[in-house]
Parts: sequence; C-alpha cells; structure tokens
Amino acid sequence: AAEDGLSGWLRYARIKGANGYHNKLPSAIVTLNATEGSPVYTAGQELSDGIRGIFGKELELDTASTRKTPRDTTATVGTVTAYLDSNPGAADRLPELVDDGFYLSVSKGNVLILGQNERGTLYGAFHYLSLLAQGNASDFTVTSNPDAPIRWVNQWDNMQDGGTHGSVERGYGGDSIFFWDGKIRDDLTRAGQYARLLASIGLNAVVVNNVNADAKTLTPENMDGLARIADVFRPYGVQLGVSLNFAAPETLGGLDSFDPLDETVASWWKDITDELYKRIPDMAGYLVKANSEGQPGPMTYNRTLADGANMFAHALKPHGGIILFRAFVYDHRSLNQTLDWKADRANAAGDYFDGLDDKFEDNVVIQIKHGPIDFQVREPVSPLFAHLVETPSAIELQVTQEYLGQQAHLVYLAPMWKEILDFDFRVDGKPSRTSDILNGKRFNRKLGGYAGVVNVGTNTTWLGSHLAMSNLYAYGRLAWDPSATSEGMLEEWIKMTFSDDKKVLDVITKLSMQSWPAYEDYTGNLGIQTLCDILLGHYGPNPASQDGNPWGQWTRADADTIGMDRTVWNGTGFAGQYPEEIAAMYENIETTPDDLLLWFHHVPYTQVLKSGKTVIQHFYDAHYAGSAVAQTFPQLWETLRGRPGIDDERFDHVMYRLVYQAGHSLVWRDSINTFYHNKSGIADEQGRVGNH
Ligand code: GCU
Repeated sequence: AAEDGLSGWLRYARIKGANGYHNKLPSAIVTLNATEGSPVYTAGQELSDGIRGIFGKELELDTASTRKTPRDTTATVGTVTAYLDSNPGAADRLPELVDDGFYLSVSKGNVLILGQNERGTLYGAFHYLSLLAQGNASDFTVTSNPDAPIRWVNQWDNMQDGGTHGSVERGYGGDSIFFWDGKIRDDLTRAGQYARLLASIGLNAVVVNNVNADAKTLTPENMDGLARIADVFRPYGVQLGVSLNFAAPETLGGLDSFDPLDETVASWWKDITDELYKRIPDMAGYLVKANSEGQPGPMTYNRTLADGANMFAHALKPHGGIILFRAFVYDHRSLNQTLDWKADRANAAGDYFDGLDDKFEDNVVIQIKHGPIDFQVREPVSPLFAHLVETPSAIELQVTQEYLGQQAHLVYLAPMWKEILDFDFRVDGKPSRTSDILNGKRFNRKLGGYAGVVNVGTNTTWLGSHLAMSNLYAYGRLAWDPSATSEGMLEEWIKMTFSDDKKVLDVITKLSMQSWPAYEDYTGNLGIQTLCDILLGHYGPNPASQDGNPWGQWTRADADTIGMDRTVWNGTGFAGQYPEEIAAMYENIETTPDDLLLWFHHVPYTQVLKSGKTVIQHFYDAHYAGSAVAQTFPQLWETLRGRPGIDDERFDHVMYRLVYQAGHSLVWRDSINTFYHNKSGIADEQGRVGNH
C-alpha cells in the first residue's frame, strides 16, 4: 500500500460493479495535436490508465490521424484551438473559457474534453476521471474556469541537507524531494509524481526552494538542476518558481552591495533572470521574503519594499514572469513587550506597505499570510487585503500544519480557510469578500490568487499522514473554486482515496469536520493564539513562552488579565487597520466575536462572554470538551477496520496517529488549564483543574 500513499487520491482503484459501466465509457481516446510530454499527451495517458484502473476497460489511444476504428465511442481530448481546426463549425457551440479553463461533455460514451490551453485540457481529463473514480459516468456537460490565475504551491525546501529544521523547513513528511546535499537530486521521479497530484487539483506552479533562500540556488550548476525539475513538471502543466535571497548579488555575485537602486545590482539580477529563462523558458517567476526575521532586503539600504520588488519585476517582465513579494515583513528584534504597550507585530505589514499601493510594477503580486501573525489556530483575516487596491494580492495558506499539530494531529483545514475566504471586509461599505479581492473582481485586477505552503517530503504519504492529504486536496480545490464546500471536498477526496462505502464516508467526514474545532478547543481559545512552544519547533503546549519572547507573539497574560489590546482608543491600534465597519466591530468588545475576543481585547479572566461563561471557565471547559472529542477519534476509526478501501497498512498508520492525538490532547488540556489556574488562582467551577 505504499503506492496507495504515493498516488494519494489518484489511485484509480477498481470500483464496485465496474463491469456495469463499460457501455457508458468511451472505447477510444483521440488526442489532438499531442506531442509527447505535453499536457494533452499526459491527459490521454491518464485517461487510459484511469479507465483501465477504475473499470478494467482497455481503451485504444490514438491521435486524430492514426485513428483506426472511427465507429466506436470516443473521448476527444485537446485544446479548443486544435478542436476548431477540424471542426470550425463548432465555434458558437463552445462556451467561453479563461486561461486554464475547460469544457467537458459526456454523452453516451462520447466524451469531449477541451481546454482553453494544454493545461486546461489536462484539468478537464482529471475532472472526468475524478467523477468516474467516484462512480459517476452519467451524461452531463460542464464548463469550469478557475477563480484566480495564481494557484501556486510553495515548498520550504532547503538546498543544504541538515539545516536547523532538517531539509524541509516546517516539513513533517521527510526530506526534500528536490534537493540533496546542496544540489538538485539526480532522481526526480517524486517531483514528477508530485506535479501529477497538483495538476489533478488545478494547481499550476511550485516554488521549489525555501523562502529563507540559499543564494547558491543560482549557481550555473543548480540552475541546470532547476531546469531538470521544470522538465519533469512540464508534462503536467506545472510551472517552476524560485525563491530568491535578496543579498545574492553580494554573497554569490561578489558585488559590494545589494542595493536595489544600484545599477550593477539590478543588472546582476537581470543576467541571472536571463540565464534562468534560457534554461526554463516557461518559468513562472520569483518569490521573495525580504526584511523579515533577519533576512536581507531593500530596507537594509533605506529603500522601500516597492523598490525591492520592482527590481525583480523589471528583470522578469521581458520574459512574462511575475514576482510574488511577501508581506510577511517584520523585525523580530525591534519589539519590546515590557516597555511598549503599543508594540504589536500584527501592525507590521500594514505599516510597511502603507503608501506603497500605487508604487508597484504590474507584474508584482503581494503574497499575504491569511492572518497578521503566523498561521495560528484562529486569526482575523489580514487587513492588508483591503489596503492594496491597485496592487494585486495572493493569499498564503499553510497546508503543512506548523502550529496546527504537524500532521501528528488530524486537523482538517478547509472550514478555517473558508471562513477566511468568505470574510467580508466591507471596503467602502460594499461587499468585499477576501476571495473576490483575490480573484481580482472586487478591485478590477487581472492578477491575484493563492499560494499554499505545502512542504511535502520523501515520505510515501507525502505529508507524513494519510488523512492530512485532504488538506492539500482542499487547498487546490478552493484555489480553483472558493465556493466548494468543506464537506463536498471531503466526500470527493474520501471516495477517491479510500472508497464510497457509506461507513467510510460517514466516519472520515465526522472525524475531519470535528477536528479543527476540537484542536482549537484543546489548544488556544478565544483568539489567544495556538499557545504552542514558540522557541522549540512550534509544537506542544507552552503558554509561558507566549510572553516576553522577541517574536511578538504575545498574550500579555498576568495574574488578573489576559489578551492583546489592539483597539485604537487604548491599545496597539491594529483594529483601526480594517475598513470602517469592521474596525468599529473589533474596536468594541461587545461586537467582537467571542472567538477573537482575546485577539483584540485585554480583559480580566472574569470577563463574561456572550455565551454567559467567564473567559477562564471557557478555557477550562473548552479544553475538556476538545480533548473529549479527540478521545473519540480512535474508537471511531476502529469501526472502519476491514471496510472497503481501508487496507491494513493505511488503517494502522492512521490509527497510530489518532491514538497519539487522543493522548496528546490530554497533555494539552492539562498543561493549559493548570497554567492558567496557577496564574489566575481562579477555581474551575467543576472542580476538575488543579487536582492532579
Ligand atoms: C514562520 C515559520 C518560519 C518561516 C516563516 C516565514 O515564522 O516558523 O519557519 O520561515 O514563518 O513564513 O517566512
């Protein structure tokens, strides 16, 4: 079953009653203008492999010119342009498609899969296969366009083996599939398999190296290696992107500066960019982390972030590339909690980007983490999305569960992401959902979209846990269509990954849908942050580490009070970074939702919530409730032993983690409750806390 892990949801496992479907399936596949290694060619191969796997039916795989048996039902697969070449009359019957979109029609075994481009054709084929794998071969027609053009993956892979965090920073599924020992791996089989998974959910680019970038990525030898990665991605329509180290002109190029306004620096980057495009003509572009957590950047020379981003934009423009410039900019040395009540890391992005909205070149996209701090279990949506009106933005979501249990805990993230994407900023008093800002509709922009920090590794489960793959699946599906529902995406993923057995569906859905609320309950409540250990790997409870640290992730908990006062009238002023209606909501303790109360307000432990409970009693109760839910996970999973699609190997692998999670949730419960009980001296109404 190692292969079951590697193929993720693309198992093409034989379904129940497979023979009964044969007359609804095509007998032949005809690809239009498919050169070997192109996405259309891949589409043909996948259809043939998929239909063989799912139904045991062998299909003739032909190109239009070599086709032997024209009377059979056929799947015709190609771009709209290629199709219209031989069917010019069809033009007005076909719907309008945007880049990467597809049209799919199934009628009594005759299938038409047309993409706006080659990649879109492959997406159409994967969509058809996904339906077939779920047992749906009925007639229908669908037109599907991606919601946003940027649907990227970020991998935080280190070139160097054995860095501080191993060779994938915040990766919990093994070593890098791309790099080994400072070089690009010789064997890139896994990179190709990864591209296949990503293409099947509509993701179109991967930035392969860590945002904390190593300048040596850009040596001629490594640029050749990057080109080899791009070669294994290309059949799947996945483009390659590269993270840059801002100081590379100095550290790698031997210049005496990396000032973005210095001509020699700019021309060094131009040359590097030309070298990369010589090797990778379809390169997607760059990703840059600058002036953050000790990384170099334009502010080192008193230049603005726009000066920095534009330097790369100029180098990329002749090649059609774009630069994703990160908004995760803050100085972890300048924050002093004890001395400054108004110090607040959450303000940093808004402050640094203030006044820059009209200063960026049109191929710059600002990549913004979904919340203002750092992928905590609950954060308000970053207000920067509402500030950048002219400059396109992309949202950075984290599939790898850094603060969220590192794949040792099941936490299905789609419900959290959907709250973020559906959030309405009310810019100028008008509906302004995050997703409509990202897709360009709200502010009339062409670029924008999604960046998911995925961090798969060499582990055969990719992420270190079979169930965590639902997060990667949901990330891709939401980047394509943010209106997809959490349960709906799960259902597709479960059917393809395991089976359509009712019990399997019910149990995995229940586990997954309960998991984020449970994790929030047994970790950090009411917007206080996850309460992980800040210094040691961001794992496991350590509420004491949440104050007095230089990173600015604070709770300001003392004997009587807790929470960050982020109001304008008395606090850090962060609430005032939101558009008027939202700012007013967060400014006022009465209108701040309970789940973000301690994010925005500093209150006594005895503050009464809308639920009628005090803050401290809510902490106690939530920790008991959340860990009680986690206690049920192993028992629920046990009911799936031997069910269709649940092989022993995957069963045991999942069980091991769920048992661990149930135990670790108790560690969480008791550490957090005891900590705040000691701190506040307030007894638990139910007498559970402090009596161990
Ligand atoms: C977090 C994470 C780091 C990462 C950083 C970033 O702080 O812990 O490992 O480098 O985010 O996103 O740049």
